[in-house]
Amino acid sequence: MIQKPLSVPEAIDKRRSTKDFSSTPVSQESLEEILRLTVSAPSSWNLQPWRIVIIDDENDREKLHKACFHQRQILEAPLTLVFAVDHKSWESDMEPIIAQAHKEGAWPEEYCEIARQAIPGGQNALENAGLLREYAIKDAMIAATQCVLAATSIGLKTTFMNGWMEPAVKAVIGAADQENISIAVLVPLGHAAETLTNPGRLPRERTVFHSRLTS
Ligand SMILES: Cc1cc2nc3c(=O)[nH]c(=O)nc-3n(C[C@H](O)[C@H](O)[C@H](O)COP(=O)(O)O)c2cc1C
Repeated sequence: MIQKPLSVPEAIDKRRSTKDFSSTPVSQESLEEILRLTVSAPSSWNLQPWRIVIIDDENDREKLHKACFHQRQILEAPLTLVFAVDHKSWESDMEPIIAQAHKEGAWPEEYCEIARQAIPGGQNALENAGLLREYAIKDAMIAATQCVLAATSIGLKTTFMNGWMEPAVKAVIGAADQENISIAVLVPLGHAAETLTNPGRLPRERTVFHSRLTS
């Protein structure tokens, strides 16, 4: 049974990057709830370019561990979520996304037409500017953030991970030769007894400004 979820502020305050996971598995019920909240993330034009691969097989975890410069959390956590993106998924997903939004009553017909016109032009312009990958990764990072907060809210631990070699991670998820696939972030997920200390943040005046950015 999933614990009563923490509030959003409580989950934000409680989240810490965890390296020492126990071997306790993540229940299917918890994983389902985390994934439900993860893929409910917003994305540009609701295009949902994330492709999330659950890595829980022992051999795959070992390969992923190597791809992550042997960072121990990959081996310790019972599973890792690989947040990949498909920069070209919009081509086949656009119509079903528009149809669904229309059926749900969220997008009126006029807005659906605007989307049909604007999405290909916008995506092609991003591709020409070399930004398609970056924009897909922005969406995936928002989904990963929801994932981490959802996991924290029901008592699980995570770490965002940038420390990996992309070709090796792509090989683990079976996308070695797919140029349209990039890796956004990895999130090991599991249980941990340890109480981690917040490493703190820069003084607010260093990172938050009013009206103008000043150095
Ligand atoms: C995008 C991103 C990538 C990160 N990559 C790694 C990583 O590869 N390995 C690791 O041990 N921690 C990684 N971290 C964790 C950070 O070191 C950690 O978030 C930071 O020290 C602040 O600690 P906190 O998360 O407990 O607040 C990453 C964090 C972020 C947001």
